[in-house]
Amino acid sequence: KKGGFAHYMLKEIFEQPQAFYETIRAGISDAVQEMIRDAEEITLVACGTSYHTALIFKYLAEPLCRIPVRVELGSEFKYYPPPLRGLVIAVTQSGETADTIAALKMAKAHNCPTLAITNVQGSTVTRIADTTLMMRAGPEISVAATKSYIAQLAALMEIVNVRCDGKYDDLLQHAHLAIGEVLLQEMQGAVALCREAEHVFFVGRGPFYPVSMEGALKMKEISYVHAEGYAAGELKHGPFALLTPETPVVAICPPGSTYGVMISNIKEMKARRAPIIALGKKGDTELAEIVDIFIPIPDSDPMVQVLTTSVALQLLSYHTACALARDVDKPRNLAKSVTVE
Ligand code: M6R
Repeated sequence: KKGGFAHYMLKEIFEQPQAFYETIRAGISDAVQEMIRDAEEITLVACGTSYHTALIFKYLAEPLCRIPVRVELGSEFKYYPPPLRGLVIAVTQSGETADTIAALKMAKAHNCPTLAITNVQGSTVTRIADTTLMMRAGPEISVAATKSYIAQLAALMEIVNVRCDGKYDDLLQHAHLAIGEVLLQEMQGAVALCREAEHVFFVGRGPFYPVSMEGALKMKEISYVHAEGYAAGELKHGPFALLTPETPVVAICPPGSTYGVMISNIKEMKARRAPIIALGKKGDTELAEIVDIFIPIPDSDPMVQVLTTSVALQLLSYHTACALARDVDKPRNLAKSVTVE
């Protein structure tokens, strides 16, 4: 059943080009498109990895589509409800996460139009929301969300595309190819640093900040190495005190508007003797020369880099967990779907 892979997680990581492509190919129904075009603001509710894809959506949609987006944790929403206006989207792979369902019910009670993004046909959210946008990841067995994360991003990027009148059609049709290019990236040097560490920081800016949060969540979840995802500019507001030669920092540093400031952040962290693992554009010698380990990522549009850097971080956690002989597909204390609040 694992198709020759050592774990379901690795199999599911390798199924990501297909999960992304199939979700894009399935498109968005006219009813959902209309809902998206009519929205004056959007609130997303989600937990865990799905919360991170929702945050990535905010970083993409606000500047590209000029629409206000708020992102709320399902687990907080019910007890501290924000003023509710506009379209509410519940993002949940399983469609069964109790906190996300509770938030969705509140949105309905406030007469907000509601949309569910899920991977499971007929799941509870599909019965509550006004309408559903299905992800096409196929069944995900490993507790760690990987291909469902990528398929969620496909669905959310489609929403950005609808709001931008199809401007990203071509990019989304081809993004799976770049995802495929990262799958065979070797991780030995980075794993050697992470497996010995007690703490690892993941940092990025813009959409790469939630990508770093997801990288840290994966690291904690399957390797049991403590990790924190941080906005790169925030480290100097406290966490710098924790930097030591034993505390690796994984820095996401693609080309673009934040490249220069990321390079100075990396130099500051190096000055505090933290080993740096950097993800950057293939062939970026300026970056490769100042860091301890360089992980090359294909050069592409920032939206595609969100996907490729995420996949590289999944592989880093996976190989670290294997090196530490963890139970990769069934990490301790965790369940695939969390059906209690
Ligand atoms: O099914 P959901 O997307 O609602 O699940 C939410 C979280 O429980 C889930 O994403 C969890 O964080 C993952 N296991 C992380 O890999």
